[in-house]
Amino acid sequence: TRHLLGIKDLNPADIQLIFETADNFKTVLNRPIKKVPSLRDVTIANIFFENSTRTRLSFELAEKRLSADVVNFAASSSSVSKGETLIDTVNNILAMKVDMVVMRHPYAGAGIFLSKHVKAQIVNAGDGAHEHPTQALLDAFSIREKLGDVAGKKVVIVGDILHSRVALSNILCLKHLGAEVMVCGPTTLIPKYIGSLGVKVEHNLMKALNWCDVANMLRIQLERQDIKYFPSLREYTMLYGLNKQILDSLDKEIIVMHPGPINRGVEITSDVADSKQSIILDQVENGVAIRMAVLFLLAGQTP
Ligand code: CP
Repeated sequence: TRHLLGIKDLNPADIQLIFETADNFKTVLNRPIKKVPSLRDVTIANIFFENSTRTRLSFELAEKRLSADVVNFAASSSSVSKGETLIDTVNNILAMKVDMVVMRHPYAGAGIFLSKHVKAQIVNAGDGAHEHPTQALLDAFSIREKLGDVAGKKVVIVGDILHSRVALSNILCLKHLGAEVMVCGPTTLIPKYIGSLGVKVEHNLMKALNWCDVANMLRIQLERQDIKYFPSLREYTMLYGLNKQILDSLDKEIIVMHPGPINRGVEITSDVADSKQSIILDQVENGVAIRMAVLFLLAGQTP
């Protein structure tokens, strides 16, 4: 594939290749000299129409570790505010001889749309409530690192499944790799089509946690909520928040994940987020190696 628009475009062999490539880059990243010359002749634009800390910085670091030339574009401080379209914006960036575009956009399908209208390789860094493929890859890579394999592992994704691009990409990626996947949350935050993806649905957090090996606690995305369908935050925390008392009451030591940013005290308490069962910062660390692998493999493709 020329682009990385979503996990739905990848097959299990593609994901394994990304993981094996990321293994090599993780070794490089642990050396005193973290840089390789692989993308010396490649110029990459990171264009972000929505805020980001982890994804934007780890793409930029991944590009720099690969020796690519990098330009960063934040829509809020650009001529988008003067009415310039997405296609015009990207074509103007490409006129400056840019090879690859990493884009985050608030609208689902923005990357797919762009890939049909411009001559550049597109990497989706999150499109609305649709997909966040590199997040799912780094999440599965982190499970593999911690548990040895993803196949056969039981992973529950807790929270706002309806508005979450992380949930959809995670489900597709974990299913490809042979994990058993469950979603857990209130009926209002679980889409009706979820059964067609081959995942279990559980509305009781304790039952879900007692079933799983890994719990991925999603952020409540207040910026995407239609508030009238949503219980109050306090009710959400009471029913679906993970705290240390719950974690310690389980029969086995599960692994706790979170894609970030965390709403501490809402979906997860600090004593869980910062506990030894949490791999939240390992996920962030692995994001750089995974994004290096994705960019490296895509750069080998003919644009
Ligand atoms: N996980 C994630 O996408 O975080 P950012 O929004 O900070 O990039």
